[in-house]
Amino acid sequence: MNTDFILKQRLICVAVIDRPDDAIPLAESLLAGGLNVIEVTFRTAGAAECIARIRKSVPQIAVGAGTLLTPDQVKQAVDAGSQFGVSPGLSEAVSNAAHKHKMPLFPGVITPSEVMRTMELGWKQLKFFPSETSGGVNALKALIGPFGHTGIGFIPTGGITAAMLANYLAIKQVAAVGGSWMADRKLVAEKSWSRITGLTAEAMNIIAATSAK
Ligand code: 3PG
Repeated sequence: MNTDFILKQRLICVAVIDRPDDAIPLAESLLAGGLNVIEVTFRTAGAAECIARIRKSVPQIAVGAGTLLTPDQVKQAVDAGSQFGVSPGLSEAVSNAAHKHKMPLFPGVITPSEVMRTMELGWKQLKFFPSETSGGVNALKALIGPFGHTGIGFIPTGGITAAMLANYLAIKQVAAVGGSWMADRKLVAEKSWSRITGLTAEAMNIIAATSAK
């Protein structure tokens, strides 16, 4: 399953959307800041509805489903039009459902054993979560040691802010960074669209400067 179109900008906005009416303005705010990837977490009742609305009305943005904890959520995500899925950990049931529905999945890992099991299940891009409280850049570099030659990529997520982006992205095996800081739940609930666009643009500028080096 090709995930290049999701990871090529090297940033995934992790969003918790309380009201489906906020889904489209949020997606448009990210796009205005230059980012075309959003992960809508299944932490709110309207997550599938949000995904369906974004997919229909803002097709320029790649939309995925996050916080996938059960096979049923995978099905709901796929039915709503999710182009990728993210799970905080490694569940074989979630993994099997993603394979069944041909949906790319980024399972969460933190230990070498989890990395090996996830590779055995056929996944190549792994969410490193929760990144900052697990040791951040240094912990990720140590984890990459025995896996760096295998071709797998990592998506560190959890506690990351704009100031940390460059250090993470300097690691060759970091495919993308995930985070909610540019559109956290409060900013979305307050409909702070121009602030979200500004924080997104700031992140995209840092990424552009990092890639130019
Ligand atoms: C996630 O599920 O990916 C996290 O909630 C995102 O982490 P952050 O909110 O600390 O960026």
